Amino acid sequence: MTSDQATLTRPVSSIDPFSDDFLADPYPHHHALREAGPAVWLERYGIWAMARHEQVRDALTDWQTYCSGAGVGLSDFRKEPPWRPPSIILEADPPLHTKTRAVLNRILSPGAIKVLRETFDREAETLVARLVERREFDGVADLAEPYPLKVFPDAVGLSADGRENLLPYGNMVFNSFGPRNDLFNRAMANAGPVRDWIMSKCSRVALAPDGLGMQIFHAVDSGELTEDEAGMLVRSFLSAGIDTTVYGLGNTLYCLARHPRQWANLRENPALIRGAFEEVLRFEAPVQTFFRTTTRDVDVGGIRLGDGEKVLLFLAAANRDPRRWENADRFDVTRRATGHMTFGTGIHGCVGQAVARLEVEAILSQLVKRVAAIEMTGEPQRRLNNTLRGFDHLPLRFVPA
Ligand code: HEM
Repeated sequence: MTSDQATLTRPVSSIDPFSDDFLADPYPHHHALREAGPAVWLERYGIWAMARHEQVRDALTDWQTYCSGAGVGLSDFRKEPPWRPPSIILEADPPLHTKTRAVLNRILSPGAIKVLRETFDREAETLVARLVERREFDGVADLAEPYPLKVFPDAVGLSADGRENLLPYGNMVFNSFGPRNDLFNRAMANAGPVRDWIMSKCSRVALAPDGLGMQIFHAVDSGELTEDEAGMLVRSFLSAGIDTTVYGLGNTLYCLARHPRQWANLRENPALIRGAFEEVLRFEAPVQTFFRTTTRDVDVGGIRLGDGEKVLLFLAAANRDPRRWENADRFDVTRRATGHMTFGTGIHGCVGQAVARLEVEAILSQLVKRVAAIEMTGEPQRRLNNTLRGFDHLPLRFVPA
C-alpha cells in the first residue's frame, strides 16, 4: 500500500476516551481501539491514538519523533497557553530534560531511597495494625490516601500544615491532561489557592534540611540547576508523587479483594509481593494515558501520521494487548508482568517508580503477615479522572490472620 492510500484508509473511531462512559469501563473500548489498527484517528478530537503494546512502546522510546515539549496532554502548548508553567522534566525534551532528569535520577535511585525503607515500613505497620483492629474501613479514605500522604511529603521534607492541598492539586494536574470537560472544570474550581500553596512549598526555605526536596536544591549549589529550576522539580514531586500512588494502592486493594485466590497465593508466598504489584499496575493501571506530539511525518504500521499531530498513548490498553500477553484479562500475581507500560518507558519512564514500589511493598508486607482475607463489604465507587483510574470509596473488611 502506498502512503497516500494508507492516509485514505486510515482507521477512524468516534470514541470519546474522556467521556464518563469510557472512563467508567475502558476495557471494551481499549479492545475496539486495538483491533481498529496500529494507529487510529479519533475524529472527535482530531488526534491519533495507539492502543497496541508494540506501538505504544515504540512511541515512548522514540522521543525524537514523539516529543513531550508540546505537552503530554491533549492541549498543544505550541497552539494554546498551558494552564501552568510547563514541567521542566515531564513536559520537556532533551537537552533540558537530560539535565533535569539526571538530578532526579540520582535523588530517586533505588540505592538512594533505600534509606526511606525503615520509616515507610514503620508507618505501614502502624496503619495496618490499626485497620486490622478496626476490621471495617474505607480502603481509600483510611489507607490508600493517608499512607502516601504521610510518607511521601515527609520524605520530601514538607511541613505538616496545608497538606490537604496535595490531593486537589494532583486532581488538577491529572485532569488537565484531558479536554476541558466537566472533570477538568470541577478539578479547577478552586485552582488559585491550591496552586499558590503548592508553589509556596517549592522554595528552599519551605523544605526540611535533609529531605528529597532539599537534595534538589543541592544541585543548585553544585551548579547543575538554577534556583527556579530546583523549585520546579520540587513541584514535579508534588504533582506526580502522590495521586499516582494513592490510586495505585487503592487498585492493589481492589484487585486483591476481588481475587481471593490470588491473595491466598500471596500469603503463602510473600516473595510474590513485588511481582504482584507489577501485575496490579498491568491489570488495573492507575495511570491510563499520556500524549505525545509528532515532530515529523511518520509511518506507523502502514498508516501515515503527519508532523505536529497529537498522539494519545493508551498505556492501559497496551497492558492488555493479547499480542503481548497471554490471558491478558486475567489477574495473576505469578505472572511476569514487567514490560507493562504503566510507568511509561524510554527517557521519560517514571523516575519515581522505586518510591511507588517501596510504598506498596511496605503495605503488602504488613498485610500478608496480619490479614487472612480482604473482603469487599459493599460496591466500590469509582472516581473518574481524565488520566487516572481508581476509586472514591472501597468498603473493605480485614479478617485478621
Ligand atoms: C504507581 C505510581 C506511579 C505511576 C503509575 C507513575 C507513572 C508515570 C508515568 C507513566 C510516567 C511517564 C510519563 C510520560 O512518559 O510522559 C511518569 C513519569 C514521572 N513520574 Fe511517575 N508514576 C508513579 C509514581 C511516581 C512517584 C512516587 C513519583 C515521585 C517520587 C513520580 C514522579 C514522576 C516524574 C517526576 C516523572 C517525569 C519523568 C520524566 O519526564 O523524565 N512518579 N510516571
